[in-house]
Amino acid sequence: MSWIAQTLTSTIGRKLLVALSGLFLITFLVIHLIGNLQLLQNDGGEAFNKYAHFMGVNPLIQTISIVNFSLILLHMVVGIGLTIRNRQARPVGYAYSRPQENSTWASRNMGLLGPIVLVFLVVHLRALWWRSKFGDIPMTSYGGDDYKDLYRITYEAFGIPWLVALYVVSMVGLAFHLSHGFASAFQTVGWRHPKYSPVIYHVGLAFSILVPAAFAAIPVFVFLKQSSWIN
Ligand code: HEM
Repeated sequence: MSWIAQTLTSTIGRKLLVALSGLFLITFLVIHLIGNLQLLQNDGGEAFNKYAHFMGVNPLIQTISIVNFSLILLHMVVGIGLTIRNRQARPVGYAYSRPQENSTWASRNMGLLGPIVLVFLVVHLRALWWRSKFGDIPMTSYGGDDYKDLYRITYEAFGIPWLVALYVVSMVGLAFHLSHGFASAFQTVGWRHPKYSPVIYHVGLAFSILVPAAFAAIPVFVFLKQSSWIN
């Protein structure tokens, strides 16, 4: 059997794939958040539209985007496979089992938290990414150059109460998913050390709260701004 087939069929190999793709997606989240924070600037959308334009035309970013989508798919499929295999391996459960005492709720429910993030992603990509790539987007102009007005599309989307609510609820799901996934990924790739593991755990915890909170704050801020709660 080739090493690729061996990796894909062994549990540890699959865990490694989920961990490595997860670490890549964590990096994506940071970059995506920094870009999206441009939506909060009071400049009529210039910074955000110029950023989105750069991301849309740069060949390196386009290549990374294909890798990103492929890794989301891989993370999902292999993650679901691992969850199913874990359940099949122990359908009845231990006679003496107090899971609350030796594992977190998030670690036992990654198979639920992952699909919550997936539902969010499908709605999110349909509302913004699909429209930006294949939809009829209004244009705007800065200094004589034309840009897609993705800022306007995003502001329109974040004027819809149920969509804003979905973003907020999904970010709670993402926070729990990351609260286990972050430190667990480092463990799986072998970064286990008596001195550094607690640091990774605490950095992961801070990350899993701050990043989803910032993502959730953006649609809430935009919604309130459009409802004239914020000037
Ligand atoms: C305030 C929250 C968010 C906003 C305003 C936002 C905005 C956007 C926009 C405008 C695009 C299309 C960009 C383009 O076509 O150039 C996009 C793409 C995308 N978003 Fe988000 N996003 C948010 C949160 C998230 C979160 C939390 C995730 C993941 C859990 C996510 C995952 C993605 C992915 C995977 C893409 C496609 C990226 C690619 O082309 O490679 N987004 N987002």
